[in-house]
Amino acid sequence: MYKVKTLNSIAPVGLDNLEKTKYIVSDEIDAPDAVLVRSANMLKYEFNPELLCIARAGAGTNNIPVDQCGEQGIVVFNTPGANAGAVKELVLCALLLSSRDIIGGIDWVRTIAEKGDEIGALVEKGKAAFVGPELFGKTLGVIGLGAVGAKIAHDAVALGMTVYGYDPYLSVEAAWRISSNVIHAKDIETIYKNCDYITIHVPYLESTHHLIDGCAMAMMKSGVRIINLARAELVCDDDIVEAIESGKVACYVTDFPNAKTARSPKVIAIPHLGASTPESEDNCAVMAAMEIVDYLENGNITNS
Ligand code: MLT
Repeated sequence: MYKVKTLNSIAPVGLDNLEKTKYIVSDEIDAPDAVLVRSANMLKYEFNPELLCIARAGAGTNNIPVDQCGEQGIVVFNTPGANAGAVKELVLCALLLSSRDIIGGIDWVRTIAEKGDEIGALVEKGKAAFVGPELFGKTLGVIGLGAVGAKIAHDAVALGMTVYGYDPYLSVEAAWRISSNVIHAKDIETIYKNCDYITIHVPYLESTHHLIDGCAMAMMKSGVRIINLARAELVCDDDIVEAIESGKVACYVTDFPNAKTARSPKVIAIPHLGASTPESEDNCAVMAAMEIVDYLENGNITNS
């Protein structure tokens, strides 16, 4: 009987599937055959010799020492696409929040209410203070047209945006399948130069470290709004803070808050909520559990 260790709280529907297959599943197992992890940091994890695979309930595998696992014959799975719907919806939300000062307006109303003042009488002041542009007719650049980026590109067209998509690994034909209305950018500079909003959906690799830095932002339109719900290190924090202070960047939405960026009033910092929906947690848990079972029972390797 196989033993599966959970390193995070994993949606019960995934664990039920494992238990139905008669696996022992617990967070207290000492020598597991498989590990099921969400975001827990495994970079310093001591691998027991029995460990055969690690399934990451999510897309990115930056919390797992993938090279070391390869050397030790431990297969690492992820669940690409399983949380894409949830991330896409948060990006759409980020687009709107970066434009319309809804957060500023909510804070303002709350402050008035806490002071016990009459809100109705002050509404006119709020209307004038919290003005922001519409998305309709603006340009959006989507960097990376994988599971998440493709969905955003598709939906942003429906919002009336002109969408540029950039993905060096995607053919023009494949980009067309996402939406014939998405403009296939030949290079990333096309995105930088043309877009009012830029959202990043590439994995974090050595080659994508600080993809958005001062040089990239220098090419962008003044007042650009940047959204990063992919990985913290894709954007250079020092450079973004500088670009915000100079007015080059009107708003930065990040799912990876830190002390440097989160204090800025032009930064919307979210505590890594991209995949935080019950639907996405269920999808990821089910897919990860299936990958473990299919590997341990049948030797099949999917999404590794
Ligand atoms: C992912 O890698 O899938 C995302 O960062 C979402 C998450 O795991 O919470």
